[in-house]
Amino acid sequence: MNEERPRILVIVGTVRRGRTGRAIADWYLSQARSLEPQVDYELLDVADLDLPIFDEPTPPLYRQYSALQERLAEPVARADGFVLVSGEYNRSIPGSLKNFLDYLYPEWNRKPAALVTYGGPGGGLRAAEHLVQVMGNLGVCVVRDQVSLPRVWELVGPEGVKVPDATAIAAQLAELRWWILALRRARQGAGV
Ligand SMILES: Cc1cc2nc3c(=O)[nH]c(=O)nc-3n(C[C@H](O)[C@H](O)[C@H](O)COP(=O)(O)O)c2cc1C
Repeated sequence: MNEERPRILVIVGTVRRGRTGRAIADWYLSQARSLEPQVDYELLDVADLDLPIFDEPTPPLYRQYSALQERLAEPVARADGFVLVSGEYNRSIPGSLKNFLDYLYPEWNRKPAALVTYGGPGGGLRAAEHLVQVMGNLGVCVVRDQVSLPRVWELVGPEGVKVPDATAIAAQLAELRWWILALRRARQGAGV
C-alpha cells in the first residue's frame, strides 16, 4: 500500500476583476489545512494562467499536447484529487473554468473531486450540477458531499470570509480522502 500523503489540488475557476472566488478558495484552504493536516494542498488559480480560449488542434484525449498543455498538465497530474471552487454564471459554470477543464484529459482520469460552489440564493448548485456532468466526461468521480454558499456577497468582506456553519467542509474532505486512497490504490493495482 502506498503511504504517501494525499495531494489535493484546489482550483479557483473565476477570473474577473473583483471576484470572490479567490477569497473563497483561500478560506477553504485554511479550513482544510486545520481539519486534514495529513494532506498536502496546492492552489491553482485559473486567473494566474492568462489562458487563451482553447484552440489546440487535437482533442486532449489523444494527448498530443502543446507546450502550454504540458505545463498545465503538471499540477493536475501530480494531484490525487481536486477541490473545484466555482461561482455560478448564468446558471452554469464560468467559461473560464470550462476553458481550463477542456485543455487536458488523461491527467484527470480516475481521480475524485469535491465541489465548492457559491452564488445567489441557490448557492451555485446549478453550476455544481453542470460540473458533475463535465467532470464525469473527464473520468472524475465527484463526491456526494458538496459545499454550497448562498448569497456569497454577504459572506465575503475586507476581513475575509465569514461562513456561519462550515461543518460541511469536514464531511466533504473526509469523503474526498476516502476516494483518493481507494482510487489511488486501484490505479496502482491497474498500473495506471
Ligand atoms: C456573468 C454573471 C452571471 C451570474 N449568474 C448567476 C446565476 O445564474 N445564478 C446565481 O446564483 N448567481 C449568478 N451570478 C452571481 C455570482 O454567482 C456571484 O457574483 C459570484 O460572486 C460570482 O463569482 P466570482 O465573484 O468568483 O466571479 C452571476 C454573476 C455574473 C458575473
